[in-house]
Amino acid sequence: MTDGFQELRLEGVSRSFGGSDALADLDLTIKRGEFIALLGPSGCGKSTALNCLAGLLPLTRGSIWRDETRLDTLPAERRGFGMVFQNYALFPHMTVRGNVAFGLRMRRLPRAEINRRTDEAIRLVRLDEHAAKLPGQLSGGQQQRVAIARAVVLEPSLVLMDEPLSNLDAMLRLEMRTEIRRLHQSLGLTTVYVTHDQEEALSMSDRLVVLRGGRVQQIGTPEQVHTQPANRHVAGFMGYRNILPMRLTEGSIVEGGGLTLRGTKVGEIAAGDAVEAAIRPEDIHLAAHPGEGIEVTTEVVEYQGRKVAAEVRTPGGVLLHLRTDRALKPGDKAELVFDPDRLLIFPEGD
Ligand SMILES: Nc1ncnc2c1ncn2[C@@H]1O[C@H](COP(=O)(O)OP(=O)(O)O)[C@@H](O)[C@H]1O
Ligand SMILES: [Mg+2]
Repeated sequence: MTDGFQELRLEGVSRSFGGSDALADLDLTIKRGEFIALLGPSGCGKSTALNCLAGLLPLTRGSIWRDETRLDTLPAERRGFGMVFQNYALFPHMTVRGNVAFGLRMRRLPRAEINRRTDEAIRLVRLDEHAAKLPGQLSGGQQQRVAIARAVVLEPSLVLMDEPLSNLDAMLRLEMRTEIRRLHQSLGLTTVYVTHDQEEALSMSDRLVVLRGGRVQQIGTPEQVHTQPANRHVAGFMGYRNILPMRLTEGSIVEGGGLTLRGTKVGEIAAGDAVEAAIRPEDIHLAAHPGEGIEVTTEVVEYQGRKVAAEVRTPGGVLLHLRTDRALKPGDKAELVFDPDRLLIFPEGD
């Protein structure tokens, strides 16, 4: 039924609760086979977007289309989507097989087909040896794989995942990232994946949708969002930990807190404007020779394997975060050089 679709379109999808928009005017075209991440801090509207797409929440405005078929007027079960939630939502009294076969049974498919497809899905998520166990006898990661098998066994046109890894410990999260990406590719799925973890979104997705306060801030490939964030909020979310209030003096020179820096303008800014200059800790370097850089004093150092993360302060009182190979210690003096291509200058406010 869902074979051969080209794209899913969200057109002006909005959802408000009691008059305030949890999600406003989301326009997004998802191509068949794409892996899309919805990224943003808690409360930004990710689950609202996913639930609108799934049909678990009615839209306040807008429409959803699979090619020329309107979907938002159809109930959830007729959209042909699969869902994977954070809390797995497995049936505790059913075995792994029972859980995975459940949706096929509900569809009253022939027994032989149910068995074949169930076996195949269990094999894909590598749970063959655990097929007869109950969810309570499995680890968190294994339970999450049952939830994924249960969703993909129905051959959905779209798989929706809402923070599926957030209940797992760090090691398992890394493993399952790869696992989900592998399944997405080998099954030719189209996936919309919700997460508040920027690393997860960057590493897994073909394109990201960055949300803030229910509004899209930026849609782009991981590289675009990472290196060219559209505004200072996206920058902050993408690891630009240093965001300094400054003023544009001329060209692309900014001043503030006793610092004068050269950067790269993002958006419309004129001389004299208040700006915010953003740079990642890894794009601030220690000067090779004395007298070349900005003098700072080290305050706090965090060991991070081959590198250290340090908080340093300028004589003008500006606190900066940097990452370096040098074994800085609290109290150490250092001199800093900023990479002007990586210092992004955003208009102040908004
Ligand atoms: N059922 C609801 N009733 C009222 N407000 C809601 C409801 N669900 C979500 N919201 C509000 O909508 C906003 C977005 O929520 P949500 O989509 O759950 O965010 P996220 O998944 O990104 O954490 C939040 O401000 C939240 O309080
Ligand atoms: Mg949520």
